[in-house]
Amino acid sequence: MTVGEAGHGGSPEGAGPSSPSAGAGTAPPAAGASFHEMWRELLPIGRHAGSGGYRRYAWTGADAECREWFREQAEARGLAYEVDRNGNQWAWLGDPAAGDAVVTGSHLDSVPDGGAFDGPLGVVSSFAALDELRGRGTRFTRPLALVNFGDEEGARFGLACVGSRLTAGRLTAEQAHRLTDGDGVALPRAMEAAGYDPEAIGPDPERLARIGAFVELHVEQGRALDLSGDRVGVASAIWPHGRWRFDFRGEANHAGTTRLVDRRDPMLSYAQTVLAARREAELAGAVATFGKVAVEPNGVNAIPSLVRGWLDSRAADQETLDEVVGGVEKAAREYATAHGVDLDVVRESFTPVVEFDHALRDELARILGKDTGLTVPVLGTGAGHDAGILSGSVPTAMLFVRNPTGVSHSPAEFAAEDDCVAGVRALADVLEGLACR
Ligand code: GLV
Ligand code: MN
Ligand code: MN
Repeated sequence: MTVGEAGHGGSPEGAGPSSPSAGAGTAPPAAGASFHEMWRELLPIGRHAGSGGYRRYAWTGADAECREWFREQAEARGLAYEVDRNGNQWAWLGDPAAGDAVVTGSHLDSVPDGGAFDGPLGVVSSFAALDELRGRGTRFTRPLALVNFGDEEGARFGLACVGSRLTAGRLTAEQAHRLTDGDGVALPRAMEAAGYDPEAIGPDPERLARIGAFVELHVEQGRALDLSGDRVGVASAIWPHGRWRFDFRGEANHAGTTRLVDRRDPMLSYAQTVLAARREAELAGAVATFGKVAVEPNGVNAIPSLVRGWLDSRAADQETLDEVVGGVEKAAREYATAHGVDLDVVRESFTPVVEFDHALRDELARILGKDTGLTVPVLGTGAGHDAGILSGSVPTAMLFVRNPTGVSHSPAEFAAEDDCVAGVRALADVLEGLACR
């Protein structure tokens, strides 16, 4: 059954998902030109002039601009555009109801002062791969969808992958409704302000049932491909990871008049805990980071009443991760007691180990190696992804594109344009191999 032709069609404004695009049109641009043009358009959105980093947080103005960009790209290609109940954006070629769809995409939001590539590379590459396939005259035998998952980084509400978690039933609507940002704005209010209905959010099993495979292309967040000299790799697994909030409560007092022995200073136990996290992670071969801290009252001349620090920890296996976090918490309790400080530790999120679908992973490696005969590198990662969340519900795989700096979640994140275009071609090959058989 041929469900969609990769030809450029018209732009059905507001078309529902049942309006497949097909038909002739102007010749699509080559992968490189199409990638370059989209990248250029997206680049200024949400970029902070001072830091050069991106501040594209969920349901803010920058996020809205990114989402508008996605809609325009979908409509310019005659794809059937829709927003699902959780605010994730979809662009369909072919009839979603036919089922067994091949889906590709990533996210457009960022961490505070994030890089340009984490997320957007996957979304831009999805459109560019479709353009490449249209250039090849590819005919699909399965529906194809491009997706932008909402709030992947969790920079604003503290929980990563909210859009995909809701869809996969890994976060309930009630739990999502209780999320608040640093200014006390609740997620439902933020969604409303952005024009979305927070009462609609929840699991979407029917949508998931229509997906036969999800492939997310992502910039590599490490240097394995740079070291091996490869442009593109395939993911094997994601380390288990989570976020824990440590609240150290002491007593606010005057910084000039309070004797050291009389203080209940939570900053001291917090500082010792940061060092303990480093020690525990080193001992276990894991990672542990306190990357965000809030201090009250946050005055230069006041001993704090509260220091709230967020621990992000990740390890190759669950047992090691439990050991690291348990060790940090034990140390934190000892330091808190020594300083007369109260401590509460709350696990705010957790994602168990993800083993990507072996058959799909091998299929990707086979497709990518078929012309060259070369073996495609297969890499694990400590970074979380929507693909990891969906992997519990649908066969899921990831492609990584070389990042010579290895840096991510920072403006120094980088991928050379040639490598990005190689990523687009690899994704196009994968989509062709999966959706045209
Ligand atoms: C997201 O990129 C994460 O790994 O936290
Ligand atoms: Mn990220
Ligand atoms: Mn990402």
